[in-house]
Amino acid sequence: MKEEITNLRNQAVFRINEVGSVDELEKLRIFYLGRNGKLAQYIKAIKDAPKSEKKSIGVLINDTKNVIESLITNKKNVIKSTVREWVDMTLPGEQIDTGSIHVVTKAIDEISRVFENIGFVRRRYPEVEWDYFAFGSLNFDKWHPARDEWETFFVESMEHPKYGPMLLTPHTSSGQIREMQKARSRGDDVIRMINISKTYRRQSDASHTPMFHQFEGLVIDKNLSIANLKGTIDYFMDSFFGGKRKARLRPYNFPFTEPSFEIDISCDICKGRGCKLCKEGWLELGGAGMVHPNVLKNGGFDPRIYRGFAFGWGVERVFMMKENLGIDDIRTIYSTDLSYLKQF
Ligand code: DAH
Repeated sequence: MKEEITNLRNQAVFRINEVGSVDELEKLRIFYLGRNGKLAQYIKAIKDAPKSEKKSIGVLINDTKNVIESLITNKKNVIKSTVREWVDMTLPGEQIDTGSIHVVTKAIDEISRVFENIGFVRRRYPEVEWDYFAFGSLNFDKWHPARDEWETFFVESMEHPKYGPMLLTPHTSSGQIREMQKARSRGDDVIRMINISKTYRRQSDASHTPMFHQFEGLVIDKNLSIANLKGTIDYFMDSFFGGKRKARLRPYNFPFTEPSFEIDISCDICKGRGCKLCKEGWLELGGAGMVHPNVLKNGGFDPRIYRGFAFGWGVERVFMMKENLGIDDIRTIYSTDLSYLKQF
């Protein structure tokens, strides 16, 4: 039987070599390798062979199969490459659709770069979090009325014995305590983080989507003041908006910062004179402030020694303001309409 198989192999090598078309090649493939082909017949016959030879016959059949298979593949390529097709060189080329990066990803990359240039380190923290990190540790009492402003999604019946209910992060400030604890566990006492993540709130209208992105800066060091906060914000405005816009700090209240501000940016449409969009020449960008002593304490930093400043703004929002896109509904950024998205 072995001899027969070897002969079969030699014959196959010869015939494959002689063949001139893909169709003929396919016939040979079926003849040798097909379900009822020659090799299949030998495989069936193994059971009648003497016991001592079964194994070596099996190996031989397998080798033969591999040889024939690879010869057929090679030959197919050779035939294909030598068949000449007539090409009309005057036809226009085929347009291949290429993908592109989504505007929000682009904005995130650009924001990261701006902050990385001044030594901030990009971070991401869980988007499914415990209440403690989103609220409790940030100085919100259990019944603090400000919690309502964050329109939070809670994960039903999930509760941590120490950290409270489970939720979807309504703001990136939830990364502050995690970052401080991490720094402390490494023995670091300086933080410059930029945490850019998805955030979720129970809101959907022209200026809100239930999922959006925020970027959160947190800086902790020994000698920090509002001047450092303002300097960082001015630097960001210059780099991101191209030096034409101004920033304004307006007193506000957040439980986790003291003092707290809202940051406004001068309106690009009316150049600060006041128009339909901005009313008074300024548009609100987001919050900022000096980290509250209780928050420092919760993160393991002694507020008598350390100071911090923080800010948290919406990615989609700053992007819309930068490009002066005239987008009147933020939800369109998350539409699946390619012709719309391709504009950016
Ligand atoms: N987390 C706040 C929000 O979502 C924004 C914010 C305000 C972040 C002040 C901060 C901050 O880091 O210091 O509305």
